[in-house]
Amino acid sequence: MTVAATSPFDVDEIALIRSQLPATYDIAYLNAGTLGPLPLVTIEAIAAEQRYDSTVRHDATFWDRLQAAQHAARAALVTLTGMGSAHVALMHSTHEGMNACLWGLDVRDGDNVVTTDEEHPGLLIPLRHVRDRTGVDVRVATWKDDDEAFVASILSRVDARTRAVALSHVSWVSGRVAPLRGLREALPHGVRVIVDGAQSAGVYPIDASDGWDAYSVSGQKWPCGPNGSGGLALADPEAWRPTYGAYMQLLEPADFRDSAVVADGRRLEMSQEALVPLVGFAASVGWIAGEVGITRAHAHARACNAHVRRRLTSAGVEEDRLQGHSHLLCIDLHDAPVLATSLYDAGFLVRSLSDDRLRLSFGCWNTVSELDRVTDSILSRS
Ligand SMILES: Cc1ncc(COP(=O)(O)O)c(C=O)c1O
Repeated sequence: MTVAATSPFDVDEIALIRSQLPATYDIAYLNAGTLGPLPLVTIEAIAAEQRYDSTVRHDATFWDRLQAAQHAARAALVTLTGMGSAHVALMHSTHEGMNACLWGLDVRDGDNVVTTDEEHPGLLIPLRHVRDRTGVDVRVATWKDDDEAFVASILSRVDARTRAVALSHVSWVSGRVAPLRGLREALPHGVRVIVDGAQSAGVYPIDASDGWDAYSVSGQKWPCGPNGSGGLALADPEAWRPTYGAYMQLLEPADFRDSAVVADGRRLEMSQEALVPLVGFAASVGWIAGEVGITRAHAHARACNAHVRRRLTSAGVEEDRLQGHSHLLCIDLHDAPVLATSLYDAGFLVRSLSDDRLRLSFGCWNTVSELDRVTDSILSRS
């Protein structure tokens, strides 16, 4: 089967998508797992905002414009995560969202939080600080391929003092997908599920009915937004203690001693006054979700993955050197950083994860020709 047989996009649609993404014009763009290409609509929104900043900067409309931009960015989070608008909080990155909810947990010495062995520092470092400040034990479960085995692996680390399981929806180092619904169903009531969605939001459909408690997303990766954008979705915002303080968190900011903290997601927001990330994020999500469609982008990425896998295995690459069947394909090979640099020089943007692992990120803009060329280049260079 070819990409064309399983992708929802025909050649003309991919050409149209690419025409909207200048960063894909001169390079085979295979690294949205680090930074997604910006669509024209976003580039224009950012330019307009910067023009305003350089000429007007501040006028009587500033606060209204800021609130409108915040509102649009929160609406984009609703689109991405499927949570209602009172349940989302603007963040500047996935790191920030993971910090906000890990610090917002009510934990004490002797409690524990379970995580996996495939997590990003954006989860592990906040967890380490929480451990050092509170005495909470951090337990690491092995990420398993099979869904049942994955859930059993997490459960083997859970006990009566477990307060949360914090994990990625899609592993950045293997591209494997965690079975969130099965995990929720198997966990004891009261154990929170905190999800790092950096490698899912914008390319993998997020289902709020999976039962997670918190889901943190990056704007600059798969949603194709600017750096400094992202957010957090919370099933029950009031279940989290605010940690960083900010103006908009209080019902009556002037009464800082006694005013109640807002009940909605804004209780975890930090100061969000940079208009560029806000307007850019809203424009990008409008484009990827509205013009392209996240389910369709995901189906195309899977088709790309299957295509490259087939070509690699028919050239003799063993299956066990390949990980991930969704939008990320990780390939075990020698000297991955050197190979990534040489591929870049040859017109392919990919990521080396370690000395021995290369990662390809497939987006709605990738063509069959790009996939064939990058596969041939990897085969001839490794
Ligand atoms: C799984 C995962 N979590 C978190 C991050 C950090 O994202 P951000 O820069 O938005 O904090 C990344 C970035 O690569 C990631 O892959």
